[in-house]
Amino acid sequence: MKLCTTIQEMRQERARLGAVGFVPTMGFLHEGHLSLVRRARAENEAVIVSLFVNPIQFGSADDLANYPRALERDVALLREEGVACVFAPEAAAFYPEGFATQVNPEGVALELEGPSRPGHFAGVATVLTKFFNIIQPQRAYFGQKDAQQCAVVRRFVKDLNIPVEIITLPTWREKDGVAGSSRNSRLTEAERLQAPVLYQALCRARDLVQAGERRRAVLETAMRDVLVQAGLTEIDYATVVDPETFQAKETFTEGALALLAVRLGAVRLIDNMPLLPV
Ligand code: PAJ
Repeated sequence: MKLCTTIQEMRQERARLGAVGFVPTMGFLHEGHLSLVRRARAENEAVIVSLFVNPIQFGSADDLANYPRALERDVALLREEGVACVFAPEAAAFYPEGFATQVNPEGVALELEGPSRPGHFAGVATVLTKFFNIIQPQRAYFGQKDAQQCAVVRRFVKDLNIPVEIITLPTWREKDGVAGSSRNSRLTEAERLQAPVLYQALCRARDLVQAGERRRAVLETAMRDVLVQAGLTEIDYATVVDPETFQAKETFTEGALALLAVRLGAVRLIDNMPLLPV
């Protein structure tokens, strides 16, 4: 396995590989990331994984500074997974002085996480556009855990005619339902014990829908009740949207997606669950 830290090295290495499956990550890898890597391995001649904590997608310097990092451990894990190449560029070289261009997605990107994290999706779309240009993968793999990110990526890839197939894979969860996230490592022991409540709130919405409920307001109240009763009161949003547009629908007949963003101490967690087959 080759570790590339410069764009030039990455381009040279890529030229040696056939059809590439690309898994972009910010590192501090967990089973969720590895599920993407394993699928990419099964479907492509070679896999490239990026480990890059992208500074331009963070709203605050604090959040960026506190994002967990474990480069050596991640590289060792990826070597075991049979990855061909890891791309871990330096931020200063990736965004050199004079860098002045961003991809600014609208549409889906203006909903939920959009207003909660100004500039976030522009940062994501910009870094991914650069990665797609440098690596030119046949396929790129993303997790349903970040459902809105998946929708934003599909949209800008289509809008900008970037020749890559976007593949979305299911959310990997711990045994207690908590969705794998690098940010979980920043939870205290007590907060980690509370974290399954997000999953429980989503399951409550799913159960109500299975019992015939179709009103957004009822489902939202039910999810909020589960969260608040467990002491999680810092709710950014707890909502049900159309999975294509991410806009709230008062009632729904076909696909719907329940989404949560909740603060647990210093950590903001997001999770989601499809409520009906989309
Ligand atoms: P990161 O949070 O490291 O996630 C990298 C990829 O792993 C994303 O596609 C994310 O949806 C997926 N992932 C995270 N947790 C998962 C889980 N529990 N189950 C399945 N997949 C999961 O998302 C980013 O990084 C960045 O925004 C990035 C796309 C790399 C751009 O900087």
